[in-house]
Amino acid sequence: MIIKQFYLGCLSHASYIIADEQQKLALIVDPQRDIDSYSEYLAEHHLNLMGVALTHFHADFIAGHIELQERYGIPVFMGERADADFSFQALADGQALMVGDVKVSSLNTPGHTPEGISLVVHDENDEPYAVLTGDTLFIGDVGRPDLLASIGVTAEELAAMLFDSLHNKLLTLPDDVLVYPAHGAGSLCGKNLSSETVSTIGAQRKENYALRELDKTAFKELVTKDQPASPAYFLHDAILNKRDRETLEEAMNRSHNEITIDGLRLRAQKGEQIIDIRSDDEVHEAFYKRAVNVGLNGKYATWAGSLLNNDVPITLITHDDDHKEAIMRLGRIGFDNVSGYVKWSMLKDHLLDDEILTTKRIHGEDLSSFLDDEQPIILDVRSHQEYLMGHLPGSLNIPLHELKQMLSSFDKESVYLVHCAGGYRSSAGVTLMHSMGFEHVYDLAGGLKPAYLEQLADQKHTV
Ligand SMILES: [Fe+2]
Repeated sequence: MIIKQFYLGCLSHASYIIADEQQKLALIVDPQRDIDSYSEYLAEHHLNLMGVALTHFHADFIAGHIELQERYGIPVFMGERADADFSFQALADGQALMVGDVKVSSLNTPGHTPEGISLVVHDENDEPYAVLTGDTLFIGDVGRPDLLASIGVTAEELAAMLFDSLHNKLLTLPDDVLVYPAHGAGSLCGKNLSSETVSTIGAQRKENYALRELDKTAFKELVTKDQPASPAYFLHDAILNKRDRETLEEAMNRSHNEITIDGLRLRAQKGEQIIDIRSDDEVHEAFYKRAVNVGLNGKYATWAGSLLNNDVPITLITHDDDHKEAIMRLGRIGFDNVSGYVKWSMLKDHLLDDEILTTKRIHGEDLSSFLDDEQPIILDVRSHQEYLMGHLPGSLNIPLHELKQMLSSFDKESVYLVHCAGGYRSSAGVTLMHSMGFEHVYDLAGGLKPAYLEQLADQKHTV
């Protein structure tokens, strides 16, 4: 028996191939939308795909079941409570699916979503060996019950279902059963996910904070409070994942369209979205004044999904040859509205001087004097949780995904210092502000370090 995990760091997403090596049959669980890595694995191990299973309708990425169905003509399996536009085979609670001689049985584990299932993989003695928990149970956390994916069901109701799914289903499995979740650290599907990607039922029973709470009312309160904000694209993805839709390849073919500098200007004039995918260090040197920086070198899809409107066409400013990756990674979250791309190497020589901007950066050693001299409005674009861990005195906490909306009430003539923890989000924030007409915007290079707070506190004491 094979259980192969595929981990996609930028979306903190784990998908799986379960296979019978002897019978050469495989099942894919919770695939990402770009499916070539699965095809390569299947070919390398001479495996035939017999189906694809989804533990639930994901909200944070577009699952690749449609693409797998198109390429392999295989059935899709989901829980019996799922309601989708595409055809699928419903698995009843406890129903077994045979992948060759490997038995995979479905457990209804609603809570993160109403239709959620977990898949128990049995060994050759028919004993539970591993469980693929989807977003019901993570390493160190449980799935959040408050996402918009669950339209029509309250977080309260889902939290109650989650409690029952955990205690009456998953925790009845033996301690040595391996736990394979659909997400790891950094996912917005929970608040305390570990960086480990596999655990056991026994370890989770001991270590997972949410499993210690045995009172249902207290559990409901625990799992519904302090959840990170869910990005705007979650609703779009949850809806798209229920639909019969075009494949990633079909969508990408429309987007591979290199445009001219005049095409870029025209799109900017029409109010379309221009995204510069270079790193914050590169963008800082020079960028098109109408572009917002969302670097391919970070959690690009998550931030693009949080900052962009999928109903408005997107144009990318790219390196020489990374447009394919940039378009594909937007496709992973169902942002298929890329109307074209233009290479920075071409742009930089043809843009007029007044179309190019440079980010004004403040370095840590100059922070104190800058704050004294300029008295800027400090915008801390980290999350509320990060802000509470320590922040610059007098700073305003506006998480990046809320910045655009909040800025409408700010004075465009004032001086601003924008910062995050590492420089990625602040670069997005600074370029966003420039694109909206703010002129006096500074970026704290490399983000806020604890040492800066100590230095500022020391100086205050010595004054
Ligand atoms: Fe989910």
